Amino acid sequence: MKTILWATLTGNGNYAQSSSNHPPKEEALGDFAAHARKAGNFIVGRRTFEGMQASGSGGDFAEMDIVVVSGSVKEIPGVTVVGSPSDALSYLRDKGYPTALISGGADLHNAFLSQGLVDELIFNIAPVLEGKGLNLLIDTEKYQYKEVELLNFKSLGSGVVQVHYAIDHTI
Ligand SMILES: NC(=O)c1ccc[n+]([C@@H]2O[C@H](COP(=O)([O-])OP(=O)(O)OC[C@H]3O[C@@H](n4cnc5c(N)ncnc54)[C@H](OP(=O)(O)O)[C@@H]3O)[C@@H](O)[C@H]2O)c1
Repeated sequence: MKTILWATLTGNGNYAQSSSNHPPKEEALGDFAAHARKAGNFIVGRRTFEGMQASGSGGDFAEMDIVVVSGSVKEIPGVTVVGSPSDALSYLRDKGYPTALISGGADLHNAFLSQGLVDELIFNIAPVLEGKGLNLLIDTEKYQYKEVELLNFKSLGSGVVQVHYAIDHTI
């Protein structure tokens, strides 16, 4: 099973955070929905999932296998709750999905990256600069730099640019 990490970054390379004052671009949200539909699933951190529920966007994904990762919560109605990134992947692999989509937020993305559990990266770069922010971190004990292969790039409209990379785990 292939794992794809999907994230929005700011133009100055931060991990984009959304709020009611700074909502995500429609183009980025539409792109996430398209990837989630294609995969039939997504894996999400407990805090981001609660944010989706609060904003009412959880219902947009009612047909999908939503896997919430949490160490503190054991059950949430309508979704599957697991205790770790590897448990999330085992659950989706056992259900026969060819692809797992990792949708965020920062803590969860960094847990997958630091454990070497990501095969491809899809970054949507939004036309915004952020003063302070979050970063995506790889396994910092193993790598200072890790080269990745550019698979594709395209414009999503309204200044959002998508880059798609593959991570080679053999190097
Ligand atoms: N740029 C983007 O593409 C994007 C996408 C989504 C969200 N966001 C932004 O990201 C922010 C939210 O991210 P966040 O980092 O605060 O929260 P998060 O990653 O959504 O959720 C964090 C929670 O997930 C659980 N978790 C994460 N890693 C785990 C692990 N290895 N094992 C067990 N549980 C684990 C823990 O839940 P428990 O506390 O229950 O143990 C943890 O507190 C918001 O600002 C949101 O706007 C951005």
